[in-house]
Amino acid sequence: MTRTLVVDPERPDPDVIAEAAEVIRRGGLVAFPTETVYGLGANALDPDAVRRIFEAKGRPSTDPLIVHIAHVGQLGQVASRVPAEARALALAFWAGPLTLIVPKQPSIPDVVTAGLPSVAVRVPAHRVARALMETAGVPVAAPSANRFSRPSPTRAEHVLDDLDGRIDLVLDGGPTPIGVESTIVDCTVSPPVLRRPGGITREQLLALVPALVVESRAGEADTAQPAPGQLLRHYAPRARVTLYEGAPEAVVERVGRDVRQLAGQGSRIGILAPEEDVMALAPRIAALAASGRVTARAFGPRRDPGQAARRLFDTMRALDAEGPDVMLAIGVGAEAIGAAIHDRLLRAAEGRIVRVP
Ligand code: TXA
Ligand code: MG
Repeated sequence: MTRTLVVDPERPDPDVIAEAAEVIRRGGLVAFPTETVYGLGANALDPDAVRRIFEAKGRPSTDPLIVHIAHVGQLGQVASRVPAEARALALAFWAGPLTLIVPKQPSIPDVVTAGLPSVAVRVPAHRVARALMETAGVPVAAPSANRFSRPSPTRAEHVLDDLDGRIDLVLDGGPTPIGVESTIVDCTVSPPVLRRPGGITREQLLALVPALVVESRAGEADTAQPAPGQLLRHYAPRARVTLYEGAPEAVVERVGRDVRQLAGQGSRIGILAPEEDVMALAPRIAALAASGRVTARAFGPRRDPGQAARRLFDTMRALDAEGPDVMLAIGVGAEAIGAAIHDRLLRAAEGRIVRVP
């Protein structure tokens, strides 16, 4: 049985937090909101508890977890050495959506890091997450609280859709404010390497660490290997996703054409796109939409990428629940948090991209 406790995201009830912290201390699994997505937490110092995370998610044991701590002062409990760039980034962006990879302390069990000599660590900004870690008094290992390869959960309902009956407790603190996962920077190498775009933008990082190595695209590193787990199928709905890239007008034109062709072949089609594109597509697909063959859902306006990020996974899940065979996705451009949106759509598409000239 999975219990759900509702908690105020701004002023979490200490009794509720104490109950959740007790579950963590006893080796159980608690899903909780962070500012990025919901995490599935266990005591990072308890290998059996951490193993349960992998079982509940169906996650391969080769994909390492992020360790969450309550304060930057606890970094020394997790890292054996804190490189200068890691210290600068932690001071600038914690608490917040940034994960740093640093050399690991021997006290962190191998199951957390998939046997790697490094560990991923972050201080989340969400009040519920911080209160939980402070009260539990231990570092908390937590991946996103979804079944392996499914889109990350931004609401407690998403967690239950994937993990009901497989975990002990969900703290329902409402929708998460950022909506895409933390940015990951590998500080075990110098200069550091951006491994996953996320809530802290590339532009913010470069202002502080100009030498930062930025991978051009997920899995296609210029100079470095991608993070473990990053090449695996990720963030994927059940429908087969194709990502369209190019100038918005040309992309809308091409998607309209592909929709008519796919519908002619008998496919049911979902469109996941910025608001502007959904509006531009509406007249082109009106007849098919009226017959129920095509649904288009907007995840937010292109001119407001923050909102688009917040709604991305929720919209992807809702569209997928309508049961399309194929999903045609359009991103919002690669500036600021748009880079994280593009990265997640690319992974959902497992590399299927149509580049429109
Ligand atoms: O926003 C987030 O980061 C959320 C919330 C819950 O904090 N967590 C999250 O965790 O997205 P997860 O497990 O879904 O993604 C973490 C990724 C792993 O897939 C892995 O690629 C990378 O972090 N990672 C973890 N430890 C690593 C290590 N030692 N070296 C390289 N990459 C690592
Ligand atoms: Mg994940």
